[in-house]
Amino acid sequence: MLGVGGMMVKKLCCFKWVALCSLLLAAVVSSKHHGNPANDLVDIINKNRTAQKLPQLNNSPGLGCIALQYVEECKGNCTSNNTVNCQPPEDDFTEVFAPNCGVELPTFGTISGYIVGCQHKYLEPSEAFSHVLVHNQKSHSLVTNRTHTEVGVGIIGSHKHKGPYFWCVLFSNSQKNTTFVLEDLGVGIKQKKGCYSGTSIPCSRGHKNTGVFFNNIWTIVFAIYLLITTIVPQSILKHMNTLPCS
Ligand SMILES: *[C@@H]1O[C@H](CO)[C@@H](O)[C@H](O)[C@H]1NC(C)=O
Ligand SMILES: *[C@@H]1O[C@H](CO)[C@@H](O)[C@H](O)[C@H]1NC(C)=O
Ligand SMILES: *[C@@H]1O[C@H](CO)[C@@H](O)[C@H](O)[C@H]1NC(C)=O
Ligand SMILES: *[C@@H]1O[C@H](CO)[C@@H](O)[C@H](O)[C@H]1NC(C)=O
Ligand SMILES: *[C@@H]1O[C@H](CO)[C@@H](O)[C@H](O)[C@H]1NC(C)=O
Repeated sequence: MLGVGGMMVKKLCCFKWVALCSLLLAAVVSSKHHGNPANDLVDIINKNRTAQKLPQLNNSPGLGCIALQYVEECKGNCTSNNTVNCQPPEDDFTEVFAPNCGVELPTFGTISGYIVGCQHKYLEPSEAFSHVLVHNQKSHSLVTNRTHTEVGVGIIGSHKHKGPYFWCVLFSNSQKNTTFVLEDLGVGIKQKKGCYSGTSIPCSRGHKNTGVFFNNIWTIVFAIYLLITTIVPQSILKHMNTLPCS
């Protein structure tokens, strides 16, 4: 039998369960949402194209990884006006970037355009699109060029938890899905830092997402605390023949 006090405890327990569920849901949703901003940028680019009745671009992981390698090489070269003063030798694409990614060399296609930019603080994908990457007529005409077929985006921060941050978009006009093929059935070589589009691998060290990761950790710790305080006393107290949470 439950008295008034028992009802109160029951309500409290219900509240705890609701709080617990919403916390876990929030952690899952936020980790999913912040998983890979490079993919978000590809979506933004494709939205911008389809709004102008242009065909969508194929999100190529091989090209994305090469974009990440490009900014990895250029991450010391962010100028005071947020342009990237960096000209990697053309041979680096096939001799350094592709092998570092595990792109099968015979499938290396044509890179038909690139945009690269940097910023001292981290920007969300939509801000990065309009403030860093597509801020003039030249870059906008690159995004809306009809002859592109594939796109790849790479993002990296040059120091742990700190900027500057670099964004690189590479376009290709090669035949879809037969170029920039990653070895090991499309897995390629794991990248240590930053992130690239075309995969579900989230951003790693050197990117702001570590902050989100730790936020999630604290959310999960709090959730576990709630779980323990909800379940453990219940079973212990049940043992003592009281029913605080039944
Ligand atoms: C940015 O700075 C570089 C040199 O640091 C200069 O060559 C370039 O023209 C500048 N760009 C703009 C848009 O001001
Ligand atoms: C980065 O900037 C330095 C100094 O301006 C320059 O010597 C170097 O060649 C640049 N790196 C690349 C890959 O262009
Ligand atoms: C589109 O890109 C191609 C190279 O792939 C270039 O030759 C052409 O001039 C570009 N078109 C426009 C409108 O910029
Ligand atoms: C596409 O992006 C450019 C640059 O940010 C912006 O000016 C334009 O309004 C966008 N177009 C659409 C249809 O969203
Ligand atoms: C390329 O692959 C994507 C998904 O991997 C698929 O949606 C698309 O239809 C493919 N395109 C071609 C031309 O095969």
